[in-house]
Amino acid sequence: MFSRYRKDTQAASTAESRAVPTHGHTQVTPAAQPALTASPNVMPKPVFKASPAAAPISAQPAANDKDRRRRQRILEIKSLLHNKLLDNLNLAALDTASEAELRSEIASIAAEALNEMGISLTAEERMQLNQDLYFEVRGLGPLEPLLKDDTINDILVNGPNKVFIERGGKLELSDVTFKDERHLLRIIDKIVSAVGRRVDESNPYVDARLADGSRFNAMVPPVAVDGSLVSIRKFKKEKLGINDLVKFGAFNQEMAMYLEAAVATRLNIIVSGGTGSGKTTTLNALSSFIDNSERVLTIEDTAELQLQQVHVGRMESRPANVEGKGAVTQRDCLRNALRMRPDRIIVGETRGEEVIDMLQAMNTGHDGSMTTIHANSARDGISRLENMVAMAGIEMPLKAVRNQIASAVNLIVQASRLQDGSRRMTSITEITGMEGDIITMQEIFKFERTGMEPNGKILGHFTGCGLRSHFSDRFRRWGYDLPPSMYDIIEKG
Ligand SMILES: Nc1ncnc2c1ncn2[C@@H]1O[C@H](COP(=O)(O)OP(=O)(O)OP(=O)(O)O)[C@@H](O)[C@H]1O
Ligand SMILES: [Mg+2]
Repeated sequence: MFSRYRKDTQAASTAESRAVPTHGHTQVTPAAQPALTASPNVMPKPVFKASPAAAPISAQPAANDKDRRRRQRILEIKSLLHNKLLDNLNLAALDTASEAELRSEIASIAAEALNEMGISLTAEERMQLNQDLYFEVRGLGPLEPLLKDDTINDILVNGPNKVFIERGGKLELSDVTFKDERHLLRIIDKIVSAVGRRVDESNPYVDARLADGSRFNAMVPPVAVDGSLVSIRKFKKEKLGINDLVKFGAFNQEMAMYLEAAVATRLNIIVSGGTGSGKTTTLNALSSFIDNSERVLTIEDTAELQLQQVHVGRMESRPANVEGKGAVTQRDCLRNALRMRPDRIIVGETRGEEVIDMLQAMNTGHDGSMTTIHANSARDGISRLENMVAMAGIEMPLKAVRNQIASAVNLIVQASRLQDGSRRMTSITEITGMEGDIITMQEIFKFERTGMEPNGKILGHFTGCGLRSHFSDRFRRWGYDLPPSMYDIIEKG
C-alpha cells in the first residue's frame, strides 16, 4: 500500500544503514534509538520468555502471572514493531498527519509486520497493540494512558518496571511498565528534547513542562541508581476552587469566609506545607478572591497557577542553557515585576534568594501578595524564611530579619497531607508583631484531630481557636463584618 507517511524504498534502505532521520523536532534521537538486531526488513522472531529486566514486580500477586506474561509478550512484539514503524514511517510527514491517518497507517504496517513474523493476536490484543504503538509514535508511550486518566494526580516512575500513581491522596503501583531502561530513556528524551533541553550523564536531571501543562522532572542513571526516576504532577484543567475545597473537607465555610476577607483586604499571605500537600492548589483557590480590577503578576519556576482574573501577567523562570547561559531566575522575574506596576505579586514557591525581594515587595506597597513555602508549621515557616534570608548572603542581624518578616507577612496558612491521603488546611495563623526578639503569632483556626477509623481514615473537625482576628478592624473597614462567633472553639467527639 502506498502512503505519503511511508518512506519510499530508497529511504527504507537508508534506514538499513542505521541513519535515523533527525528532522526538526524528531521525536527519537540516534542515542535514544533502540538498536536493531537484524536488518529492518527481516524481523527477528520475538522471544517470549520474560527477560530478567522484566521480572515480575513483587508487589503483584502470583495469580496475575498469566496476565503479566501476556503483557510481556505484547511489550516485546510492540518493541519490534516500533522499530519497524520507525524504519517505515516518513517522520517528516508525520507532523502533518491527522490522528486518523496515522492510526490507520500504524495498523496497516503492524498487520503486515505481524503477518511477516507469523504472529497471530486476538482482536483485543491487536487493538491494544495499535493503540500502544500510536502512543509510542505520537505520544509518551506507556505514560500516555496515565496522563489521560483524570483521576490520577501524580505519576512516579522508579526505573522501567515500577510506575506508581497517586489517586485520591494514595500511592499505588500501576500495572504499566516500560520494556527496559532504554525504552524509558527514549520517552524521557522525547519529552525533554521537545522543550529544547537535554538529559544525559553530564546533565543527569531536568525539569520541564509537558505540552498539557503537567510538571515533569527526570533524573537518569548513574545518579539515579536503579534506573531513571521520573515525577509528573498532572495538570488539572479544572482547578479546585474554594467551594470544591470546602466540599472535599480541606477547610470549612467559616475558614473560607475568613480567607475571603483576608485576600480581599490585601493581607500578605504565605501558604506553607510539605511536598504535595496542596500548597499550589490553595494558592490558586485563594487568588479567586482577588478583585477583577487588579493587575496581578505571577512568577513561577513551572507555570501551574491558573488565575481567573482579567488582568494577569504570567512569568516563568528559565534555567541556564547547555553552555550555562541565559538563566532567568525567579528573583530576576520578581525584580522586573516591581517595575511592571503590579497591584499584587504572586510567587508560586519561594525557595531561595528571591525571598529578599518578596519580603521587600510585601513591605513596600505591594500588599496582598502571596507565595508558598515548604514548611511543616507556621513557626517552621518563619524559620524557613529566616534561613532563606541568611542563605541569600544578606548580612543582617537576626532581629532585623525578624522585623522584616513580621511586618511583611500577615498570615500563614498551613496545608497538610494527612496519613490517610486527605489534604487539609490544618491551621490558619496570624502574625501579630514582635515581642523582644520573637515574632508573635496567634492561631485562628485549626483542624482538631479526634481519632482514626479502623480503615485508617482520620477523624476530626475544624474549629476556631477562641481568638478574635488581629485584623478584625481592618476587615470591618473594608466591609467584611465577620461574626465574632466564627472564632469560637468547637468541641466534638
Ligand atoms: N483538598 C484537596 N483535595 C483533593 N485533592 C487535592 C486537594 N488539594 C490538592 N489536591 C491535589 O493534590 C495534588 C497536589 O497538590 P498541589 O500541586 O497543590 O500540591 P503542592 O503542595 O503545591 O505540591 P508540590 O510540593 O509538589 O509543589 C494535585 O493533584 C491537586 O489537584
Ligand atoms: Mg506546588
